[in-house]
Amino acid sequence: MEKRGNFAGKLSAVLVAAGSAVGLGNIWRFPSLAADNGGGAFLVIYLLCVLLLGVPLIWAEFSVGRSTQLGAVGAYRKLNKHWGFIGYFGVLAAFLLLGFYYVVSGWTLEYFVESVNGNLSNYSTPEQYRAAFENFKTATWKPLLFAWAFILITHFVIAQGVQKGIEKFSNILMPLLFVILLVMAIHSVLMPGSGEGLKFFLKPDFSAISGRTVLMAMGQAFFSLSIGMGCMVTYASYFNRDTNLKATGLQVTMLDTLVAFTAGIIIFPAAFSVGIFNAGEAPMAGPELIFITLPAIFNSLPLSMLWSAIFFLLIIVAALTSTISIHEVVAAYLNEEWQIKRRWANWISTVGMFVVATLASLSLGVLNDCRIFGLTFFDLFDYVTANLLLPVGGLCTSIFVGWVMEKAFLDRELTNEGRLSGKIVPVVRFMLRWICPLIVLAIFLDSLGII
Ligand code: PHE
Repeated sequence: MEKRGNFAGKLSAVLVAAGSAVGLGNIWRFPSLAADNGGGAFLVIYLLCVLLLGVPLIWAEFSVGRSTQLGAVGAYRKLNKHWGFIGYFGVLAAFLLLGFYYVVSGWTLEYFVESVNGNLSNYSTPEQYRAAFENFKTATWKPLLFAWAFILITHFVIAQGVQKGIEKFSNILMPLLFVILLVMAIHSVLMPGSGEGLKFFLKPDFSAISGRTVLMAMGQAFFSLSIGMGCMVTYASYFNRDTNLKATGLQVTMLDTLVAFTAGIIIFPAAFSVGIFNAGEAPMAGPELIFITLPAIFNSLPLSMLWSAIFFLLIIVAALTSTISIHEVVAAYLNEEWQIKRRWANWISTVGMFVVATLASLSLGVLNDCRIFGLTFFDLFDYVTANLLLPVGGLCTSIFVGWVMEKAFLDRELTNEGRLSGKIVPVVRFMLRWICPLIVLAIFLDSLGII
């Protein structure tokens, strides 16, 4: 087998894992779900899910990956031969997830191009932006070509290898993204009439909450933290023995949550300010939210197309560091389990991604009538991965690490074999044994109408 890559320093472990976590989930998916599900109340439930499920599970996944130095399938199986299925589950989730993820990534690429060539500045009202986006999204070839381009970009970055490709990339561009987000958030809050938006996002109205909202918030927490499908397992397999898993997990969770929160602070004030949402009305949102709101924000800035181009470029980068990490789950599986050389493993996953992404993209246009459970492929892939596959994957991981693995396992991994304090380990184990499985089950049963 080829030699395994490694991430060099402590900072890099945080940045690459944050690179996976921070992506379209934060900037595109979180605001549209929050808009659909009552704003502030969604935010509160989301934060609870991150704290109670996200943190223990990210530590559990890190432990599984770092201890075995294997990708998702191999890692679970090495620890216990009956539990390799969690890894397979992850590979399946990775495929479906990338199906729609590449499509949205393609949209950001298209918006970048339209910013650079100035076309985006041809519109001025929210209705015009909405119509332009609808036209683009339902077309056949254009979104498809951009999704394919994104798949190929991901492919070639991965082909550079773990260290050169993934690490270098994350180290430079992630910090830049944070700075730009912050500047935009400040600008958004200063727009006239932004107060309504802040209120919508920050003031919880629990009367609007249903079981479905809670399910969506949980799904979003898994999605955004990249947990429940072996992605953090695979990345942690490249961590070295000295990486502090506790600190890394906490930092990644914090950064990820901060970016999602900041995205909300960018989108909602602006959406109310330019009249995409209206005070007193239930906001219309959906996947197009950022593609309508962001151009409208840029429109109100001097040098609008420059800002727009920089911003879409950074979203592309955030999406890219995530697609790389998901693609890597599939490629590492083919490489390790089937002994296929990395180069070919990479190509095989790429070809598979072409197929699912094509289905997802066309399902918004010509294949719109082809529905399963009433959902287009795009919505189906999104719904099934975030609200079903990832939480089930997380549930299995918490049961596995909490109940199947002996206590010494978590102890060893979270303390780096006794070199770090282990005070928190019993708490984490308790959470994994009881709290995480019970919460996930309760949310599932509730959304099925059983409790
Ligand atoms: N966390 C990524 C995002 O928010 C998406 C992702 C999900 C990445 C699952 C890896 C695994 O965009």
